[in-house]
Amino acid sequence: MKFKQKEVEKIYKKLGKDLKSKTASELKTEYLGKKGAISALLQKIGSKEPKDRAIFGKEVNILKTYFEEELTKAKLATRETLGSSARIDPTAPFDVNTPEENRPKLLTADSGSVHPLMRSLEEFVDIFSRMGFDIMESRQLDDDYHMFESLNFPKGHPARDMYDTFRTEENLIPPAHTSTMQNRALKTFGPPPVRVVLPGFCYRNEATDASHEHTFFQIEGIYVDRGISVGDMIGTIKSYLEAFLDTTLDIKIQPAFFPFTEPDVEFTISCPFCQKAGCSVCGHSGWIELMGCGMIHPNVLKEAGINHKEFGGFAWGFGLDRITMIKHGIEDIRNLHGGDLNFLRQFS
Ligand code: DAH
Repeated sequence: MKFKQKEVEKIYKKLGKDLKSKTASELKTEYLGKKGAISALLQKIGSKEPKDRAIFGKEVNILKTYFEEELTKAKLATRETLGSSARIDPTAPFDVNTPEENRPKLLTADSGSVHPLMRSLEEFVDIFSRMGFDIMESRQLDDDYHMFESLNFPKGHPARDMYDTFRTEENLIPPAHTSTMQNRALKTFGPPPVRVVLPGFCYRNEATDASHEHTFFQIEGIYVDRGISVGDMIGTIKSYLEAFLDTTLDIKIQPAFFPFTEPDVEFTISCPFCQKAGCSVCGHSGWIELMGCGMIHPNVLKEAGINHKEFGGFAWGFGLDRITMIKHGIEDIRNLHGGDLNFLRQFS
């Protein structure tokens, strides 16, 4: 076949080469797709001078018919080489007609990685297991008893307001902290010694900003045995934080208030970034208030059937998001739940 119109002849020659190397679906897109070579010629017909239009249009249509015949042959050929077993697999993650090199690579940096929060969780689970703690996941829906009563917040107690969260129509509660698991864990792992960590999602009725999210992740810890002191608590918390942040820390404890501990403590660490010199991570104070903790209130032990005269212990609850932000210098907590791939790729 030979075309008089140069533009048509050029595409015909190119097609000759492509028919030997490309698949039917590639040919279809490259020649008759939106930006296809033959589609472009068809569009040009209208803009030709009236005297050239007829011959140009005729040649373009001959080329189009030729192309369609060749395309049908190419399709049949693929079906033959693939054989009758090559019926379409609608569950295949790629088009089986696409050559190997054009298929999406299944294991690349783009195919996903462990989320920074879950990576921190794995590291903590590893640290706590080595320290001899059991692990029990917290619930994403709990009830009033576990959220408040079992933790020594009687009905109408003003401290309930510190934990403003959501409720379902059935009056179930997406927990505002992982302390909801204390009663259950003491009953499950008791009688003492009980050493357990309770990781899980928490929810609060929160206006979000760079340091507040309505959904976040906490890790609760409980240690109950005979003769446990505040010194054991400080030593335990300091050790696992140093293991996670991979540095030595100075610590301060300050008074706080939680109905489920007595005494109640705010645990503060020296900034691992600036060693107390002051930087943006610690708000230029050199210190970071990291978590609440304290000696478990006798009423909480009693409620779980543990003799508070014989046994005592400590508990803590800290935000995994917060410590992950500190470790990686992340400035906005919303990044952790936003699903922004540019952010997540930094951790892959
Ligand atoms: N549940 C508390 C909160 O989220 C933190 C906390 C304080 C946990 C003291 C404890 C504890 O286990 O003993 O605000």
